[in-house]
Amino acid sequence: SPFLKTKFIGHDILYYESIDSTNTFAKSISQNCKDGLVIIAEEQTKGRGRLGRTWVSPKRKGIWMSIILHPNLPPSEAHKLTIITASSIYNTLCKFNVDIKIKWPNDILINGKKICGILTEMNAELNHINSLVIGIGINVNTEVEDFNEELTKIATSLRIETGKFIDRKKLTAEILNNFEDFYIDYLSTKDIRPYLEIVRKNSALINKYVEIIKPNEKYIAKVVDIDDDGQLVIDNDGKIEKLLSGEVSLHNM
Ligand code: BTN
Repeated sequence: SPFLKTKFIGHDILYYESIDSTNTFAKSISQNCKDGLVIIAEEQTKGRGRLGRTWVSPKRKGIWMSIILHPNLPPSEAHKLTIITASSIYNTLCKFNVDIKIKWPNDILINGKKICGILTEMNAELNHINSLVIGIGINVNTEVEDFNEELTKIATSLRIETGKFIDRKKLTAEILNNFEDFYIDYLSTKDIRPYLEIVRKNSALINKYVEIIKPNEKYIAKVVDIDDDGQLVIDNDGKIEKLLSGEVSLHNM
């Protein structure tokens, strides 16, 4: 693609008309492949979201891709790459002049509805990430008919929100360009704060009440901040708590 200006990410791309899930496939090959390999599919038959959810991935409507990386980082830093991914996608989508918000830890919303989800998965040893897979799903040209009734309430697409048909190839390249910029910079500085600043400034959650759903409890709390480690700081009835991105699901109130 003439739009791709990266140093290494996406120089090799495996492209599929149809696949079960780019993340599932990427995970299966990630231990023995080049840093920066990207898997792209026109359609996923078993697209996966966080917490075992399904990700609807209709043919030629969206960007369904996975980036494979081999960062020299401990597993505890993996969630920071989700922050880098979300902030770089935010930066890319800004040009569409719509109301874009980042919903910690891994969603991007337009006008309050989801247009992008990120699923970061890894193969790791105790102190070392062997390979990392960053799955990105963006509803680009998806139309209302492509969503089922339930999804229509919570999901949208760039097409629906801007009224324009969007070049997915160009957008994919722009996302990879932006992501690589942030990624290379982060690896050299190990400083996540510039990206957290983007997430904070454009947060869908800060100062809002959310329902927090954990494996065996559920409660409402107010989101106060996102701290410098990328944890969500909440006020639970006067008690300040911090949430790691791992096991919580959040519903806006
Ligand atoms: C979420 O919002 O829960 C995360 C959604 C992630 C979807 C993308 S689409 C490409 C990659 N392959 C998958 O099966 N999932 C991710």
